[in-house]
Amino acid sequence: MSLENEIVKEYSNGEMTIIWKPKTCIHSAECVKRLPEVYKPNEKPWIQMENAGTEALKTQIDACPSGALSYRMSNQESSEDSYAEETKVEVLENGPLLVHGTLFVTKPSGEKETKTKTTAFCRCGASNNKPYCDGEHRKIDFKA
Ligand code: SF4
Ligand code: FES
Repeated sequence: MSLENEIVKEYSNGEMTIIWKPKTCIHSAECVKRLPEVYKPNEKPWIQMENAGTEALKTQIDACPSGALSYRMSNQESSEDSYAEETKVEVLENGPLLVHGTLFVTKPSGEKETKTKTTAFCRCGASNNKPYCDGEHRKIDFKA
């Protein structure tokens, strides 16, 4: 999957646009836990951003561990621009390897991708979107 054909959905309230990349989600449910009035997985649209203020949305999106959620402000501020200068690696218990920072990934096919903010790499071997995590570790009850 290249960045060009990655599914990207956008939700806007005029001031702010939420960018949602479903294939990047690792299903940690941080969004639903922090703002259940906004993130409603069983409803359409599943993101109802009119139910929270911009600052609350920003705080929650910055806590999305995978980078599946990001935002762009109409005044150009983007959460993807605020990546850490240092590269940091975090091993999630029973889940993926999170790498924070800007990454240049080359796949076995030679395809290259640029990743910003946070990237979740599969540790369990079950992802259908390798080398990235797609949440399958939960289904196989991965422990490590
Ligand atoms: S990875 Fe981000 S978008 Fe996916 S469930 Fe967690 S907080 Fe929500
Ligand atoms: S670690 Fe999440 S799918 Fe493998």
